[in-house]
Amino acid sequence: MTHRIAVIGGDGIGPEVTAEAVKVVRATDVKLDTVDFDLGGARYLRDGTILPDDVLDELRTFDAILLGAVGTPDVPPGVIERGLLLKMRFELDLYVNQRPFEGVGPGQTAPHRFVVIRENTEGPYVGEGGVLRRGTPAEVATQGSVNTRHGVERCVRYAFELAASRPAHHLTLVHKTNVLTFAGDLWQRAFDDVAAEFPDVATAYNHVDAACIYFVQDPHRYDVVVTDNLFGDILTDLGGAVSGGIGLASSANLNPARTGPSMFEPVHGSAPDIVGTGRANPTAAVLSAALMLARCLRRVVVVDAGRPRNAAAAQLHNFLTRDGTAPTAFLAAARAEVAGYGVTILPGTVHAADRTDTGFTVVVESGLVLHGRRLRGPRRREHGGDRGRARGPAAAPADLTDQGGVSGPPVARA
Ligand code: IPM
Ligand code: MN
Repeated sequence: MTHRIAVIGGDGIGPEVTAEAVKVVRATDVKLDTVDFDLGGARYLRDGTILPDDVLDELRTFDAILLGAVGTPDVPPGVIERGLLLKMRFELDLYVNQRPFEGVGPGQTAPHRFVVIRENTEGPYVGEGGVLRRGTPAEVATQGSVNTRHGVERCVRYAFELAASRPAHHLTLVHKTNVLTFAGDLWQRAFDDVAAEFPDVATAYNHVDAACIYFVQDPHRYDVVVTDNLFGDILTDLGGAVSGGIGLASSANLNPARTGPSMFEPVHGSAPDIVGTGRANPTAAVLSAALMLARCLRRVVVVDAGRPRNAAAAQLHNFLTRDGTAPTAFLAAARAEVAGYGVTILPGTVHAADRTDTGFTVVVESGLVLHGRRLRGPRRREHGGDRGRARGPAAAPADLTDQGGVSGPPVARA
């Protein structure tokens, strides 16, 4: 089976990192039919096109969308972000932004592993508000936050279902209920109501400012975190920073009802300063593509994205992400790590070093190693909108249980 993937490289390093991600996927036995879309700041500057509705409709026909990065200094802030990225999130109803974090935080000795579920279609991102008397001393600007019971509840329910599918069975709501009393109250009540349907999931609440401390000082307290759009945007940059750097942070913009394609993108931006230097680290894009395989194409389960298993290895890994190169020591560690798989790291960009009946290993030049395992077994229920309120682990939908990992249906052999 061939999967149709829309690739929007976008701006800056976006096209470079998505190209590497596509190479990695092609190095597995997953067959992709990719179509490149020329969208982003450069296109906008050329002919004014951002994301016309007919292109959006074309995107709806794909199995998934792989996005690099958008934004260029030559275009005023907001034009491409709202017109392309947010338009896709809203119009394709990608209401969950799932961002997994795994790593050893600064000053920590043990690895943490948690997932942030960011509401992706509401909050301050909807663009409510306006400006009066712009540029005068009497200027007024308002920017509201829109929170619907429907939008909050479906996101919270997804987070509970995800938490129920993970060993720790724990979900933390992050908000600012002590100040944002209207929105916070709606979030808290939706959270509490859905919690009653998941008696096996332990819950916690943190104000967002406190969560910023805990992300750094005590990340191990988290398993699944659910939060609003803007808090989630900010917290996930922090999540990246404490998990090996933003160069590793992947994300899945999901339409859990599967009424259209989901979109997968690295959390990082377009980094115009390093375009074309070969220093862009493709890891986040590769991991986002791994999420795509797992969640959307239901083909491969990446069980280990080559994460360091101890603090010393983590230091090497962090170093790797800072300058985008692979130090010899890291490669040595990576070699040792894959030795058990009978894999060799070769020069070059991407290598499918091993394909067996039970799995594959892909090694990319940066030293990132993806180990995949084919799954067999009964097909799980989809995380579908018509799934109703089925409860319990059997209904666990969460195709993305962790960084690059999933539970999912059986994987057809190519
Ligand atoms: C992200 C980005 C986007 C966001 C920008 C580019 C609009 O920061 O995906 O986190 O704010 O959501
Ligand atoms: Mn962001």
